[in-house]
Amino acid sequence: DKDGHKHFMAKEIAEQPVAIDRALKAYLGDDGQLALPAELDFTKIERLTMVACGTAFYACMVAKYWFEQIARMPVEVDVASEFRYREPPVSDKTLALFVSQSGETADTLAALRYMDGKAQQIVGLVNVPESSIARESDVVLPLHAGPEISVASTKAFTCQLSILLLLALRAAEQRGLPLPDDMPADLRALPGLIHQSLAGETQITASARGLAKAQDIIFLGRGQLYPLALEGALKLKELSYIHAEGYASGELKHGPIALIDEKVPVVVLAPRDALFDKTVSNMQEVMARGGKVILVTDAEGARIAGDGTHEVIVMPQVPDTLAPILYAVPAQQIAYYTAIAKGTDVDQPRNLAKSVTVE
Ligand code: F6R
Repeated sequence: DKDGHKHFMAKEIAEQPVAIDRALKAYLGDDGQLALPAELDFTKIERLTMVACGTAFYACMVAKYWFEQIARMPVEVDVASEFRYREPPVSDKTLALFVSQSGETADTLAALRYMDGKAQQIVGLVNVPESSIARESDVVLPLHAGPEISVASTKAFTCQLSILLLLALRAAEQRGLPLPDDMPADLRALPGLIHQSLAGETQITASARGLAKAQDIIFLGRGQLYPLALEGALKLKELSYIHAEGYASGELKHGPIALIDEKVPVVVLAPRDALFDKTVSNMQEVMARGGKVILVTDAEGARIAGDGTHEVIVMPQVPDTLAPILYAVPAQQIAYYTAIAKGTDVDQPRNLAKSVTVE
């Protein structure tokens, strides 16, 4: 049941405030205290290893920034298909975290089995609680996103991010570190902010008509927004079949800038944060070469960026730490509306399956 929406993907994008609220309520008490399983213990851990595929892997990439900055923990992230065959040495002071919507992804499951008996603890963050990854984990954290039908992952991603942030806060607490200002209380504002950002849809529909004419599209982001640039590009290519690449903004001048001309739109995901000025100078490099910049930022970012951008999509103001979760929404909407403009099959893109149970 699409609940009045044209596609499951539209329904699942719209459901995110409710899904995130549910995910947060499962792991955050009414008193504002973290309510994670007691056996989840970061005190004896020296390293966190996160393994996943596709969109779930990008959630792990964002979480690396959080765990490093908030919990000061060494973190390794890898795609499961590489990790499993690399056979890396594993210290028994490792906590291994596997992230998967379906809980059945063959490579992720194989990576989990490789870590079993080597790592101190195997934790599974899954949307399907009766899945293989859930069964084979020492600690299972259900996502509570609700069933995700559309092939492209949307609400599972933002629920993964929300819970991964709670885990980083738990790790910081257990390691005796102060939590960032107003955390975890700020997280309660997240469903409302996501709800507000969904209203940016009309503007994105207009941008998407332009993007649908492009042959190649570049996504840029810096810091915690870098994985979102990768996610935006993945979503766009899987749904609209337009070639898209995500890059760390700072990598632009190390190669990709050679691609820039008036035919290659550049989507820049950049809230006004400590790194914003650096992103603005990357944007100017693009514009100086005739590139059309679509800037996704907040009101303050839009003001500082000034003229010269092709379009600006204005997002609500958000605490820095939460920005990757909020900016997932425009990334999803850009892919969705570009696919609509191209007339592709949004819920069932060609060549893709919802659950990848073979490698
Ligand atoms: C992208 C997408 C895929 C999945 C990947 C992992 O929209 O849906 O990249 O994220 O196949 O799937 P799970 O999370 O089920 O392990």
